[in-house]
Amino acid sequence: MRQSSLVVVSNRLPVDDSVAPDGVCEWRRSPGGLVTALHPLLQHMPATWVGWAGGTGPAPTLADIDGVHMHTVPLSHEDVQDHYEGFANSTLWPLFHDAVEQPVYHRRWWEAYQRINQRFADAAAEAAEPGAVVWVQDYHLQLVPALLRAQRPDLRIGFFLHVPFPPPELFMQLPKRAELLLGMLGADLVGFQRAQAAHNFAQLAAKVLNVPATDDQISVDGREVHVGAFPVSIDMAEMEALARRPDVVARAQQLRHDLGNPQQVILSVDRMDYTKGIEQRLKAYSELIADGHVKVRDTVLVQVAVPTRERVGQYQILRERVEREVGRINGEFGRVGEPAIHYLTQHFDRAELAALYRVADVMAVTPLRDGMNLVAKEYVAARVDDDGILVLSEFAGAAAELSQAYLVNPHDLDGLKLTLIQALRAEPADGTNRMRAMRAHLRQHDIRAWARDYLTTLDQTGSVAARLTVG
Ligand code: ADP
Ligand code: F6P
Repeated sequence: MRQSSLVVVSNRLPVDDSVAPDGVCEWRRSPGGLVTALHPLLQHMPATWVGWAGGTGPAPTLADIDGVHMHTVPLSHEDVQDHYEGFANSTLWPLFHDAVEQPVYHRRWWEAYQRINQRFADAAAEAAEPGAVVWVQDYHLQLVPALLRAQRPDLRIGFFLHVPFPPPELFMQLPKRAELLLGMLGADLVGFQRAQAAHNFAQLAAKVLNVPATDDQISVDGREVHVGAFPVSIDMAEMEALARRPDVVARAQQLRHDLGNPQQVILSVDRMDYTKGIEQRLKAYSELIADGHVKVRDTVLVQVAVPTRERVGQYQILRERVEREVGRINGEFGRVGEPAIHYLTQHFDRAELAALYRVADVMAVTPLRDGMNLVAKEYVAARVDDDGILVLSEFAGAAAELSQAYLVNPHDLDGLKLTLIQALRAEPADGTNRMRAMRAHLRQHDIRAWARDYLTTLDQTGSVAARLTVG
């Protein structure tokens, strides 16, 4: 069993098994913000990544990826149903995203959540050398910090939540609210995307657990747990380099040609998730065409919506509704060879995504709620010529940093339509000023700065037990 001084624990590993049409299992990079953030960061570090490889049954043995050891955790069909699709993605995910869909509570799912969190904690304990740093990620594994501390008090344990942390009024719905808070408080440092989330967490710790809590520090079981905001980011240099590659530049030109050389291209790239505001965006766009503000020949919308969590009912319903609406809009407003919306559900490699970002005059990122939204940051990184307009939801964590974007409330249909019109008609000089400011911000706050900031803080805030062992 290989042990490392840095162990990252997340539900999903950077690869996911997918079954190709010929029935052969092939490995591909998993979409999603967590992998985008952590994959470039860990490359060539002497680290172990503990996680699930996407299938069911015994854990597959994976080769190291870019020098990082993969420690796979097995999930059975029932574990996937009750833990991943159930408690994680039908209870916590909607609850943490403003309950834009109704969270579902089942006692069986909670049992599975505890069981699987214990399995991940055991795997992390096996993979960590004495005094190691273990960095637990996201809402699937909120009990792991406390479970791990119980068996390995020598470790320095960090927890980072990639999704929003809800206000007390919402979190209080959760039947197991105290258990979840205590699980997270097993860490030495609990990190969130935004200061508001850290504030919500501290308020809840005081209210539910009756412990002394400020937005920076919570006292529990004789330990001080540090709390803070660490907005996650992307590998800016990697995306810039990709966007400058001659084959990517050529591909972007080809894409524009294939789209019929329109005057303007609007792009959206989302996982097919009800938090991403896809339906509201389609409605706004179809009304803009119907009102005559947008002409199909001059402007095209490219909507990439890669399916995700496909066995969860709410996701199946969303896909059906999106596809019906795309069909309706294309049927009503498209012409032969000129659809109003180019709709793609495929998985793209990084170079193709970079080419899409390059071709987009306007990027519409309008989630109803999002922890961060790295697609918005990737777009800014890919605009190496300082042009392009980012329309960004106020309810994405990224809005706190990318304040020069065209900010919009996606629940306000008229406001969304107006902002899209303003973006399509923006003066190039205004767009350039805004893009330059956002690019300068991302250069300073890329994924390495995020990790440095988090890990340095964790290093300074290790528990007494960890300090004694590590020396
Ligand atoms: P989330 O974590 O909710 O999925 P983010 O916007 O933070 O949202 O991250 C999504 C990540 O998934 C981005 O890095 C994006 O490039 C990637 N992604 C989205 N759609 C696709 C796709 N069709 N093919 C490949 N990667 C994708
Ligand atoms: O960033 C939020 C997140 O839920 C990650 O935890 C996750 O890896 C990603 O979105 C994609 O979701 P999933 O792992 O369910 O495919």
